[in-house]
Amino acid sequence: MADFARTPKARVAVLISGAGSNMAALLYASRLPGAAYEIVLVASNDPDAAGLALADAEGLETCALSHKGMARAEHDAAMDAAIRASGADYVALAGYMRILTDDFVAKWRGRMLNIHPSLLPKYKGLDTHARAIDAGDSHGGVSVHLVTPELDAGEVLGQLPVAIRDGDTADDLAARVRLAEHQLYPRVLGEYVSRAYRADWLLEQVRTRALALPEAEERASHGAPGWRTAGKSGKYFAYFNDRHHGSEHIALLVKTSGPDEMESLIERAPEAYFKPAFYGASGWIGVILDRPGLDWQSVEDWLERSWAAVAPKRLASLQRAAAEL
Ligand code: GAR
Repeated sequence: MADFARTPKARVAVLISGAGSNMAALLYASRLPGAAYEIVLVASNDPDAAGLALADAEGLETCALSHKGMARAEHDAAMDAAIRASGADYVALAGYMRILTDDFVAKWRGRMLNIHPSLLPKYKGLDTHARAIDAGDSHGGVSVHLVTPELDAGEVLGQLPVAIRDGDTADDLAARVRLAEHQLYPRVLGEYVSRAYRADWLLEQVRTRALALPEAEERASHGAPGWRTAGKSGKYFAYFNDRHHGSEHIALLVKTSGPDEMESLIERAPEAYFKPAFYGASGWIGVILDRPGLDWQSVEDWLERSWAAVAPKRLASLQRAAAEL
């Protein structure tokens, strides 16, 4: 489990259409010590949604914006504006019964989650409980997934099965699934928004990118994962450091052109770079990975540059030619 207490809290806007019991579960979980996120807005397309009154009573910022008489794109754009104004980094759909435009979904790609009352990919859409019972399934359940343009089809981030009992009605099952929902959603949302501060997730991101470089291979160095060019005369171009040598950062170590460039980068952007112990003396720089707003493209650029500095000429020129294409 991640140590959420040391990571900045993510800001989440919750969209609801009804009772808002999942919103409430998310809210109370966010008020536990060490929570990974806070709720900065509860918005609804139904001004009478019961969840809005609860959110208001709990001191949350709310926004009611009826979709009646509005084109879908216009309504989504207004919702998007309200969410952005709240400063949210993520959107959690919690019983938001509106089909979203592709444009809205694209704007929040990778940052919008939904809870759906079935074990996806089974029973997308509505009447999930009745369909599970009619099919004779042993279990219904709940899924939390990323939102993509296709309805209920994005990557599943977490699921909980709920047993179906003899004689269950759809309402019986819905009530028990709701209990499971309230456990699952806060957990999955918390883990999702904090993964960018977790060493295991960051290492996997770096590893995929480092090993995509020609003839790169992974070899641990003094216990830290490292990547080098292949062969006997292979040289290291990157190391992954998880708070090594007293550093407070999870970082990627790569080669700059030398100590002068390293020092000036650190002076210009101390939130992004630091001078690593031992390696700093020869111009290696620490690129801080566990920070808000990290740009993975710049990590990729650093890996490629560092790789090119040690790669055999034949490989480096091949790579340059590929890039030009
Ligand atoms: C929840 O059961 C949620 O899974 C479902 O709506 C209910 C909202 O309840 N969502 C969907 O069906 C989405 N397709 P709540 O307002 O009490 O959270």
